[in-house]
Amino acid sequence: MGEPVIAMRGVRADLGSRPVLRGIDLTVRHGEVVALLGANGSGKSTAIRTVIGQVPVSEGEIELFGTERKRFRDWSRVGYVPQRTTAAGGVPATVTEVVSSGRLSRTRFGVFRKADRDAVRQALELVGMADRAKDNVDALSGGQHQRVLIARALASEPELLIMDEPMAGVDLASQEVLARTLRDQVAAGATVLLVLHELGALEPLIDRAVVLRDGCVQHDGPPPRALGQHALPGHDHVHPHSEHEPIRTGLLS
Ligand SMILES: Nc1ncnc2c1ncn2[C@@H]1O[C@H](COP(=O)(O)OP(=O)(O)OP(=O)(O)O)[C@@H](O)[C@H]1O
Ligand SMILES: [Mg+2]
Repeated sequence: MGEPVIAMRGVRADLGSRPVLRGIDLTVRHGEVVALLGANGSGKSTAIRTVIGQVPVSEGEIELFGTERKRFRDWSRVGYVPQRTTAAGGVPATVTEVVSSGRLSRTRFGVFRKADRDAVRQALELVGMADRAKDNVDALSGGQHQRVLIARALASEPELLIMDEPMAGVDLASQEVLARTLRDQVAAGATVLLVLHELGALEPLIDRAVVLRDGCVQHDGPPPRALGQHALPGHDHVHPHSEHEPIRTGLLS
């Protein structure tokens, strides 16, 4: 078993005086790909935002690469793709500028050298957006925008990738591209924690699934195999389940 890259122990978090995380234990080890699943509002985004320090923890502890999160400074080792919001971003920026912002942590005093520019271009190529490098991000479709955010996270060549629903709004062909990209990252030694609603194209990559329910860990183990299908829209769940497959049902509701 690899070293823990993320370790959450008994993590509680409150937002707007409401307990949102009610004692989360979650360990992601070096080289693992862990999917964080659960219904809307179960606390998935909040959980990963505590890890990157965007949401304060009221109880419990978090370590990143074996360092207490509050003392962790090496953020170039972490790539983060936030959950897509519909709100338009304020300042206009080109695709290259957005992806370059993900590389800043690797530069000295923000000065881009050839290796940095190459890393930015390569990240754009990985997500198939190199031909849009000079375009304004406002001119992109939702799925293209998502791919730029993934390129931004890849640009620092992170050891740990944290992605909040990276596949949301991304078409099937691009999902395949991203799955391949992710597989290459993992083969090169990356560790991945990602929030998903359906395993889809990523299913073969997932080592473990952690399912949240109402701010608690409901399941931590092998990915629920039927999930891919069950999570598809229109799956009306009329067929009966045997009692011998307890973790297959109800995970997302
Ligand atoms: N800033 C906030 N202030 C108050 N409550 C919040 C805030 N952010 C999130 N919450 C609440 O915390 C709960 C968990 O939200 P969170 O975004 O973590 O859910 P999620 O599992 O990521 O859901 P989704 O699948 O919809 O993205 C929700 O009930 C939400 O309303
Ligand atoms: Mg969320």
